[in-house]
Amino acid sequence: MKKKLVSLFMAAAMVFSLAACGNSGGGSSDGTSADGAASNGKTVGICMPTQSSERWINDGANMKKVLEEKGYKVELQYAEDDTAQQVSQVENFVGKQVDCLVIAAVDSDVLVNAEAQAKNAGIPIIAYDRLLMNTDAVSYYATFDNVGVGRVIGNYIKEKKDLEAARAAKESYTIEFFMGSPDDNNALFLYNGIMEVLKEYLDDGTLVCKSGRTSFDDTCILRWSQEQAQNNCENILTAFYADEDLDIACTAFDGFAYGIKAALQGAGYTADNWPLITGQDAEVMATKNIVDGTQTMSVYKDTRLLADKCATMVESVLQGTEPEVNDTEQYNNGVMVVPTYMCDPVAVDKDNYKEILVDSGYYTEEQIQNAGK
Ligand code: BGC
Repeated sequence: MKKKLVSLFMAAAMVFSLAACGNSGGGSSDGTSADGAASNGKTVGICMPTQSSERWINDGANMKKVLEEKGYKVELQYAEDDTAQQVSQVENFVGKQVDCLVIAAVDSDVLVNAEAQAKNAGIPIIAYDRLLMNTDAVSYYATFDNVGVGRVIGNYIKEKKDLEAARAAKESYTIEFFMGSPDDNNALFLYNGIMEVLKEYLDDGTLVCKSGRTSFDDTCILRWSQEQAQNNCENILTAFYADEDLDIACTAFDGFAYGIKAALQGAGYTADNWPLITGQDAEVMATKNIVDGTQTMSVYKDTRLLADKCATMVESVLQGTEPEVNDTEQYNNGVMVVPTYMCDPVAVDKDNYKEILVDSGYYTEEQIQNAGK
């Protein structure tokens, strides 16, 4: 419930700041952007997955702002994690004959037919953050290095717990995994990045997963549900950690970290035995938790940068030019390899959050302090 309120607050803040900027970014009502490129009043339809998590609210607002500054008309829709709703949103955009579609899918397999309709109608599609699977209707993909996100989390655990020293001393740490949604390609990529770093320590017993749940299938959580992460953690703590503390909660999402925090508090954990908890997105609530010590780290993904990269892809496909990409190998969607621009993820913790998040203007100290209030 609290999270919803934070989200609503962020949304209101975004709307206010966007209204306050008006056209100051350089876009003009005649469809000509600041740099002079004609956008001819073209319309871009944006489909975002949910407003229940802060990152997608920021993504939607950033995309709308950047595209409007370039002179495009923008229609932004959220599907609230409802696959049928997202299908009908895409179909509606096709019916309205928007000029380009940007889609961050809830479950991309369900969108295949709607995407084919877009292709038949000559509407190019850009995949945003999440790869659109099993379709040839997608032109480009703008995302973060999703395996890289997993590596950042794995390496953080490796370094903070000094797993090499633990291995040499024949010591061990307990660890449990809370991975992302099985219908989101990013989730498996992230898991693979984590295991690239941590598998050897699980294999030799430096890391001990008492539940035995280390595979992606055993640890994935449908639709990135915070509640499910909390339930899973409560069950694991009861069944496997009655006599020993959990040392590391390796989670793939800030929302999971909130659920794990609640489960740990319910199980009586305090600052004295609080585990290392990872997350993803560096949400403002997560940042507050990092400052007060109830979450250890998160992975910062600058949604402003992603919006910029995606908006230049939109511009290129509409102008018939080639956008900048930096990967043409990794993202095979089952039908084609989608040319991709990958942005870099960065680890954020108590020691660097000021430099990474505050100095870059992503959050103010005040926003962090007031998160969740
Ligand atoms: C995104 C993450 C996000 C997750 C849950 C993933 O597709 O890449 O940044 O935490 O969805 O919303």
